[in-house]
Amino acid sequence: MSAEDAVSEYAIQHTSPEDDVLHRLYRETNLTTVYPRMLSGHLQGKLLEFISRMIKPSRILEIGTFTGYSAICLAKGLTPEGVLHTIDINDELSDTALRYFTLAGMESKIFMHCGDARQVIQGLSEMFDLIFIDGDKEQYTDYYELALAKLNIGGFLLADNVLWGGKVTAEIVRTDKEAEGIRAFNELVARDTRVEKLFLPFRDGLYILQKLTG
Ligand SMILES: C[S@@+](CC[C@H](N)C(=O)[O-])C[C@H]1O[C@@H](n2cnc3c(N)ncnc32)[C@H](O)[C@@H]1O
Repeated sequence: MSAEDAVSEYAIQHTSPEDDVLHRLYRETNLTTVYPRMLSGHLQGKLLEFISRMIKPSRILEIGTFTGYSAICLAKGLTPEGVLHTIDINDELSDTALRYFTLAGMESKIFMHCGDARQVIQGLSEMFDLIFIDGDKEQYTDYYELALAKLNIGGFLLADNVLWGGKVTAEIVRTDKEAEGIRAFNELVARDTRVEKLFLPFRDGLYILQKLTG
């Protein structure tokens, strides 16, 4: 086991256990999908759940549902009347996600949209307290402006994979379009005075932003 894996294992042992529904979803995702590593997993899921519980949002927006793991984690922090909108361009996994939203008792709190987030977001009439960006890494800068326009002042935006396996720090990343996309996003955010920001080097990197002005 690598030192990184040992630290991760230690952290999991000292964190509340994954609930049964999330554990089943993790297993099913690993058995039935081509890229199961896309799923947030136990530690990141707990972090998302905690952030959401601390904010107590009434409206959450997620870009990139996949099999629904992070949506369930984030929805745990919603106010009793709160709702989460999640968007994915790939409808092949929507049955799985919807089945697990029901198993988690969240079928009336989570609304799933199938389509390109860049179009779907513009059709949403609501404003959000918390937004999680976890879609196509080349499109992060596109999502950013659209998402920021839908975020309440004082609201929080999270963006996953902002380290992209450490490739963002490499001298030459031009052959890796995802790394280029993430790096452009990180630079855009770092320059943006409309948001307070924390670049958290947790797992594959999580950017945490708070919108200060319109
Ligand atoms: C990393 S996975 C999301 C993982 C999920 N948030 C989780 O933690 O379990 C990225 C997802 O983004 C979706 N995606 C890619 N481009 C998209 C787009 N333009 N609009 C909406 N979803 C998109 C993919 O189909 C994929 O399911």
